[in-house]
Amino acid sequence: MLADVLPYLACPHCGAALSLAGATVRCGTGHGFDVARQGYVNLAPGTTSGDSAEMVAARAEFLARGHYAPITRAVVTAVGGAVGGGPGCVADLGAGTGHHLAAVLDAAPGSVGLALEIAKPALRRAARAHPRLGAVGADTWGTLPVRDRAISVALTVFAPRNPAELHRILADDGLLVVVAPTTGHLAGLVGALGLLTVAPDKARKITDQLAPHLRPSTQDVCEFGLELSHQDVLSLVGMGPSARHVGADELRARVAALPEPVRTTASVHVSSYRRT
Ligand SMILES: C[S@@+](CC[C@H](N)C(=O)[O-])C[C@H]1O[C@@H](n2cnc3c(N)ncnc32)[C@H](O)[C@@H]1O
Ligand SMILES: [Zn+2]
Repeated sequence: MLADVLPYLACPHCGAALSLAGATVRCGTGHGFDVARQGYVNLAPGTTSGDSAEMVAARAEFLARGHYAPITRAVVTAVGGAVGGGPGCVADLGAGTGHHLAAVLDAAPGSVGLALEIAKPALRRAARAHPRLGAVGADTWGTLPVRDRAISVALTVFAPRNPAELHRILADDGLLVVVAPTTGHLAGLVGALGLLTVAPDKARKITDQLAPHLRPSTQDVCEFGLELSHQDVLSLVGMGPSARHVGADELRARVAALPEPVRTTASVHVSSYRRT
């Protein structure tokens, strides 16, 4: 619930503490933000981007079928004892539907979860993903509406990273867990469907990008086979960045031409970082 995460948040205009008054989140100096009917609050009013409703629906469908369950488990393992059973806040930046964050919270009974997202269709789903999760509209490229050093664990799963802000919001002993595709992710499908490719040195680029603020702690490869129906493939493509690059009819035709089930490999780096 939103109330669970308010102690970790800061007013996006003046940085003051926030409290809940009826259906409004307020700071002490008078800034107010309406709580949406679905239970999230938008602390980045005016921003309208991120994934579309169709992309979010495709993601929800694909994740609900359990195809990325090994990735979710790898995230839970990487978070490990960083939060334990004690109190603390796990922030997921670009949280999407809140799917991975909900699993982390299940494994960390004393913690609360903060889903930071820019897309309203995703915020609506994240707000009901877990009873200890609060969903907050935020642009993770900008200043986050989060207090300094308030966060025990930050997650970025297939989502953008803002090194300076991650450093600012993480506690001294905080942990960042990053999931990013390797070049082998969805091999075969990428060529057959004309999807976007992953840069060969993506993992190193991420570490370099984070370097002034965060140092690498652990890195694992999570790799597993996927057996997908044509509908699953359409969801998988529809939820990712390639959805904006391949026309719907063209995609449907290319998927129909594939053997069913479609066999491919999911391959991601699951890396963790500490404050420098
Ligand atoms: C590829 S999805 C991953 C979602 C989720 N982490 C998952 O793995 O299921 C990337 C997410 O980042 C969000 N996003 C993109 N740019 C953002 C920004 N500047 N601020 C906050 N969220 C953003 C998108 O709306 C989308 O939900
Ligand atoms: Zn304020």
